[in-house]
Amino acid sequence: MRQKIVAGNWKMNTTPMEGVELAKAVVAGSRNVDKSVNFIVAPPFTHLSEVMKVTRGTGVAVSAQNCAAEAKGAYTGEVSAAMIASLGVEYVILGHSERREYYGETSETLNKKLEQAYANNLIPIYCIGEKLEEREAGKHFDVVRSQIEEVVFNLDTDRFAKLVIAYEPVWAIGTGKTATAEQAQEIHAYIRGVLREKFGDAANDTVILYGGSCNPSNAAELFSKEDVDGGLIGGASLKADDFIAIGESY
Ligand code: PGA
Repeated sequence: MRQKIVAGNWKMNTTPMEGVELAKAVVAGSRNVDKSVNFIVAPPFTHLSEVMKVTRGTGVAVSAQNCAAEAKGAYTGEVSAAMIASLGVEYVILGHSERREYYGETSETLNKKLEQAYANNLIPIYCIGEKLEEREAGKHFDVVRSQIEEVVFNLDTDRFAKLVIAYEPVWAIGTGKTATAEQAQEIHAYIRGVLREKFGDAANDTVILYGGSCNPSNAAELFSKEDVDGGLIGGASLKADDFIAIGESY
């Protein structure tokens, strides 16, 4: 049985105080949800320390949204994986399409970031997914294959066993246009197949999340699909009730 994960990517939203309130509400709501569902919240860096105080010892885990590609030193404005891990944070989202698009993150950068994450015992949630024009040109399978081959294929089997993947079609992020459950299943199964080429049966245990306009009304159908192991939730994770309802729909 693969782990079920519902992760909330808060992006650049909420003040630290609002974030603490949101985390408290998620912790409270999660108590009524089946224990098989693992909730993760991913606040901005500035909130991590205070949010950890709220979530420590509860079933809710915490993720950062990014980490530096280097270990330490003269990199103004960067936050290292070691700094994040020292707070007790367990996960880090890497390669989100917004990072790839607005901050020029390439596979080369992401290989370094994954190295930093693993070296500091953070579990990467590695995001992949195609843009609208790539889907329309029928290139979506090739795009996710490259994003996997150029980064995930560099991992050894121990590291691969810990990896979480999030498939997020860029055309579905923040647009209200969700992939259909059939589209999600089709590409999740493809992704697992690509992983199997390199890692064999270990790929059967890889958690592959769906992300992109996932909400309480479409989550149940998406999560019912065999290769969809949960969701990476943006907008709907900013309202605790909606976020919890997504977890409940599993
Ligand atoms: P969304 O974002 O749920 O607001 O579409 C998902 C994501 O970018 O992780």
